[in-house]
Amino acid sequence: MTALHDACAAVTVEIGALTDLTLGEGRTYAVDGRQIAVYLLSDGTVRATDAMCPHRSGPLADGQIDTTVVVCPLHQYAFSLETGACTTPGIGSVRTYPAHVSDGRIHLTLR
Ligand code: FES
Repeated sequence: MTALHDACAAVTVEIGALTDLTLGEGRTYAVDGRQIAVYLLSDGTVRATDAMCPHRSGPLADGQIDTTVVVCPLHQYAFSLETGACTTPGIGSVRTYPAHVSDGRIHLTLR
């Protein structure tokens, strides 16, 4: 794992190979003391959120995803993959992390 610091104190971290992910599914990574769920969407892009649901700590990487939300497997609350906001008011939100793939490697930006 390598990290690159930029001027805004954000850190870009390489977490592994894109081939470690399965299309349409999520996987949890331990990154810099955080548990982060990384998803490979059906359109081939990658998204990342906190791995733990703010409702009752469900494992979001095991949830159903489409190109816009992840649905927690425990009680089916949905969270935006772009903003982290829950589509149901009062549940809270998860952090999201910018993600990109370069040379087949997944990179996340942590703030
Ligand atoms: S634990 Fe995720 S919706 Fe309840």
